[in-house]
Amino acid sequence: MRTAYCGQLSATDVGRNVKLAGWVNRRRDLGKLTFVDLRDHTGLVQLLFGDDRNDLLDAHTLNREDVLLVEGTIQRRSAGNLNLEMKTGEIEVRVERMSIANRSKTPPFLVEGDGADATEETRLRYRYVDLRRERLQNALRMRHRTFKATRDFFSNRGFVEIETPVLTKSTPEGARDFLVPSRMHRGTFYALPQSPQLFKQLLMVGGIDRYFQLVKCFRDEDLRADRQPEFTQLDVEVSFPSSPEEIYALIEAAVAHIYREVLGVELSLPFPRLTHAEAMRRFGIDKPDMRFGMEILDVSAIVRHSGFRVFAEAVASGGSVAGILAKGYASASRATLNQLQAVVVAAGAKGLSWVKVEDPIVSPIAKFLTAEEMAALVAAFGAERGDLLLLLAGQGIAKPLGELRLTVARQRSLAVSGWKFLWVTDFPLFELDEEGNLASAHHAFTSLRPEDIEKIETDPLNIPSYAYDLVLNGTELGSGSIRIHSRELQERIFRRLGITPEDADLRFGWFLQGLEYGAPPHGGFALGMDRLVMIMAGEASLRDVIAFPKTANGMCPLTDAPMAASPKQLAELGIRVEDAR
Ligand code: AMO
Repeated sequence: MRTAYCGQLSATDVGRNVKLAGWVNRRRDLGKLTFVDLRDHTGLVQLLFGDDRNDLLDAHTLNREDVLLVEGTIQRRSAGNLNLEMKTGEIEVRVERMSIANRSKTPPFLVEGDGADATEETRLRYRYVDLRRERLQNALRMRHRTFKATRDFFSNRGFVEIETPVLTKSTPEGARDFLVPSRMHRGTFYALPQSPQLFKQLLMVGGIDRYFQLVKCFRDEDLRADRQPEFTQLDVEVSFPSSPEEIYALIEAAVAHIYREVLGVELSLPFPRLTHAEAMRRFGIDKPDMRFGMEILDVSAIVRHSGFRVFAEAVASGGSVAGILAKGYASASRATLNQLQAVVVAAGAKGLSWVKVEDPIVSPIAKFLTAEEMAALVAAFGAERGDLLLLLAGQGIAKPLGELRLTVARQRSLAVSGWKFLWVTDFPLFELDEEGNLASAHHAFTSLRPEDIEKIETDPLNIPSYAYDLVLNGTELGSGSIRIHSRELQERIFRRLGITPEDADLRFGWFLQGLEYGAPPHGGFALGMDRLVMIMAGEASLRDVIAFPKTANGMCPLTDAPMAASPKQLAELGIRVEDAR
């Protein structure tokens, strides 16, 4: 139906006869003339109707989003008509023939602009209209190029892409499962995989050696801008890795390849690394945003004998005093300081002390500190006039300091553009969950150093594991680990997690058995593809890089999923629903 694309035409095409197809972006009537901007996925071009060499055809009846097929001649625009902001702004198409392939109802929002004229809900309900927007088009095309570059990279290195089941048994990654009832086996349920973790490990047992998969994963958890209930991972596993180093190098090379192919950006390798302990100590978070500094500084030694009891007692009782330096932020208002105080209190700190480095010092704690102590604090941070010191005291202040650092960075717009990748290594094997129970920090299949095995029973919270995360600009992009490949050790971990042998057998017996038939040492990684594309595209939400995403409460406004099942379906499944929504 067409011989050219709208957005690709330029002054070099003047005189050419073309056939175009697309949507009406907008129509302007000027006296006898009608101008229509025609849009396809490459961009816009202006159509001209009704000058002395063509007629108006039906142009005056056209409305936004009507679908057109036109044939015409490219001509230079008259001088007063040039639009140098538009890629095709020097030319127009004098239309000789037009057919209206389809009419559109008045669209619920404009396709041009940023979509601010509609709610997110409306945009998702009419997603097919929203998808015509340039920004979404670009994101989805970037997503495609990213997936292609990924597949090429791994295929060229001897990796095999293998699909693992979607209707399966629970593969826990710390979220709830989505369950699918079985009709043939009433009262039983498949679980959708939270990840292909156990299957990729069994592929290693099966001698596949190097596996990857671009795979949908499903997790029923609270949603955020960087979480969707279904999302796509690049899942990778290798047999006989020399050490985690082999995985780091592989993933770095893959990411560098993607950046080169998709963005034309050359990343500098290797990515920097921090151990988990160091990340927590210096940044108060396990996924530090390295686009800005503002590191946490422990000043316990300076204030341990201070007359300020809050500080002295914090140190005496085994806690610490630490803070950050907010450059040039002595200008912070009372309201801002109260806001920062609320942030740290919500994160578990008792309160916030602040020092405005001015002449003289302005601080509610100044009267409790000696001039020497205050001078030593200012010197320790390297603070200059106009700076602000923010200090916390007590136990467990790393996390509130981390949130404080991020909040100040947001308020001060410190996170300038750039790609700050970081490996965070040596995650602890176990941590305490919200109820205070021992839980795996990564997942239960993560291995540890042989010399630490005895600590599983005696000192579980002090075991560094072979688990690592890849962080980009403060977002967790991916995680992986070297795995346990002995049944005995795997069972020992399960026991420590409070999973009884019977329960372990019921839930994971199929997998544990596999470990007994010659499981090779293996390890791997999974990278969140939606998150990677989101950051590469400069978007703030996964919804902007997924064609048909869910809302924050897990709904799809387009299809109205999830929906009630019919009584017939429920009867077949032997399911009775109580308390329907
Ligand atoms: P993990 O659970 O850390 O590891 O997941 C890996 C990566 O997947 C992405 N991700 C998500 N993206 C969007 N929405 C979600 N709800 C969501 N949940 C996770 C993140 C995350 O870093 N089997 C292990 C990997 C391994 O050990 O090899 C796993 O799934 O970017």
